[in-house]
Amino acid sequence: MHANFKNTHVTNTHECQLVAHRDAQNDVDMRVSLASLSMKNPLTVASGTFASGREYADFIDISRLGAITTKGVSACAWEGNDQGRLAETPSGILNSIGLQNKGAKHFIENDLAWLKQQQTRVIVNVCGHSYDEYFQALDALEQASGIDAYEINISCPNVDAGGMALGTQPNAVERIVSLLRERTCKTLIIKLTPNVTDIAEIARAAESAGADALSLINTLLGMAIDAHRRRPILSRVVGGLSGPAIKPVALRCVWQVHKAVNIPILGMGGVASGTDVAEFMLAGASAVAIGTENFVDPCATMRILDELYTYAREQHITHISELIGGLEC
Ligand SMILES: Cc1cc2nc3c(=O)[nH]c(=O)nc-3n(C[C@H](O)[C@H](O)[C@H](O)COP(=O)(O)O)c2cc1C
Repeated sequence: MHANFKNTHVTNTHECQLVAHRDAQNDVDMRVSLASLSMKNPLTVASGTFASGREYADFIDISRLGAITTKGVSACAWEGNDQGRLAETPSGILNSIGLQNKGAKHFIENDLAWLKQQQTRVIVNVCGHSYDEYFQALDALEQASGIDAYEINISCPNVDAGGMALGTQPNAVERIVSLLRERTCKTLIIKLTPNVTDIAEIARAAESAGADALSLINTLLGMAIDAHRRRPILSRVVGGLSGPAIKPVALRCVWQVHKAVNIPILGMGGVASGTDVAEFMLAGASAVAIGTENFVDPCATMRILDELYTYAREQHITHISELIGGLEC
């Protein structure tokens, strides 16, 4: 799928390789860490927009990414929602995919085997409809080797239970995080929804229950209507808005959460350029994920990484981590 909400060109593999070549001449220390997860640079991809990376390997050098974040993995296979799962909007898209995936066993045997060879960190996004489903998925993944961190999606607007509802109540967040914490020593990143009144309160609940890091934001709840048919465009009526339209909300959330907690943040929401990444880091993110922009340009991650280098050189930055929380207000 190629969204077309702004003027852009799809670069080809050759251009991506040229960008990769320039890494060798880089004089900026791009290393960052998300708690115990060290990354060669701050860039990863947003869950659900990059599958498990294999489809993108024809376009980009996956090993240049600081990490790959996989699509959501559940204990058993999920079919996802009915068709009518995508709608384009000004500067964004609405999706109601419903976390379609083939389950943990299939992921471990197929995707993880490939991911392990990619010379980048592997963050596995985990989803469930119930507490038990989260536990089963995590327990299955714990048996496998090659996973560096988990990103727990307690914020999806497109599943009935175990999704956004779980991530909107501080008590429920504390409970799920503390129970997952008991089951793994790996870096535990909790993904938050922006669809709450006070995201700082939710962030503090996750931190106090043992989260190592927080990722934000998931999509914003929205809807689209076909006036001629007098019907909703999405089969579930509402879905999650992503892309440049949500960037101001995402920046605000990262900034508020950074002030509220002492654990690192993986920021995302509408990132489309190197300076967008810098903005998220200034707001308080230690690492940044590229999501919907991958649909516009499959080489987006390489271009954005290159732009971030250029920004850092222009700003006379020697360590990219200098940016984290550096906003002057
Ligand atoms: C098509 C699509 C599928 C997504 N699937 C997931 C998912 O499986 N798990 C998850 O935590 N977030 C999922 N997300 C949310 C993204 O990871 C990200 O939080 C959000 O899209 C904001 O970033 P962006 O504006 O850069 O896309 C999905 C987003 C899109 C557009």
